[in-house]
Amino acid sequence: MLAHKKHSKEPGDSPAMIQSRRRFLDQGFYDMVSDGINEVVGGNLHELEDGTAFSILDAGCGEGFYLKRLKEYLIGRSGGRIPLDCYGVDISKFAVGKAAQRDKTISWAVANIVDLPFESGSLDIVMNVFALADFNEFSRILRETGKLVIVTPGPRHLNGLREIIYPVSREHTHSEMSEEAKGLFTLSTAKRVNYPLELKRNEEIMDLLAMTPYFWNIDLNTKSKVEALNRLELEVDVVISEFDKTKQ
Ligand SMILES: C[S@@+](CC[C@H](N)C(=O)[O-])C[C@H]1O[C@@H](n2cnc3c(N)ncnc32)[C@H](O)[C@@H]1O
Repeated sequence: MLAHKKHSKEPGDSPAMIQSRRRFLDQGFYDMVSDGINEVVGGNLHELEDGTAFSILDAGCGEGFYLKRLKEYLIGRSGGRIPLDCYGVDISKFAVGKAAQRDKTISWAVANIVDLPFESGSLDIVMNVFALADFNEFSRILRETGKLVIVTPGPRHLNGLREIIYPVSREHTHSEMSEEAKGLFTLSTAKRVNYPLELKRNEEIMDLLAMTPYFWNIDLNTKSKVEALNRLELEVDVVISEFDKTKQ
């Protein structure tokens, strides 16, 4: 990540946000989201004819939770028979440092999603979980047969928390495909993962808040309402979309 390509001194998630994400995810609250991703990516796992490794990039990998679980799942699924190359990139150096502690067999790098350090047509899977997406760049680095797996909030995601933050709770608007993706990708499957979640400690609630964009947008009064909570019932609702690269 070259200095002149950074638009701030420390781009991406801060150490406090990464620490919150690590604590929250390690308690298993999003394991079912990760399991859903594993099944979708696992359905594409295959041996490559030229004997090269099946390659996966997690673009905007955060502190590495999803990619580490995916790697372990895929090794189990193929009985270790199919060689894998796993890469995680994030613009936050703190995120990448944390991810590297999780798993030293995965290649982690600080990089910008809009300018990824991969050769054109070189990857089998690009996944992108709750992060900025650059469809042109994802299309460039994927093989012709490659798949893009994107995880976005579903309409009811974090209802329960959002009702506290917004007096009139609006559902997330979820569109199947952004304008930018049209022409580059074709949706092949969309899997919805939706389940209730109960948080029973204030620390868990504050960690979740720090993982969301709401953390930055809410006023002090609303933040103090959340700070006073010791229990919160909410929904996890995400959509895991799998795209084929459109033949050019
Ligand atoms: C909401 S977090 C999701 C992280 C991870 N995928 C997860 O779900 O745990 C978004 C991540 O995108 C990273 N990010 C933001 N802008 C980026 C960019 N231009 N290039 C790469 N990563 C970026 C942030 O540092 C942060 O780790």
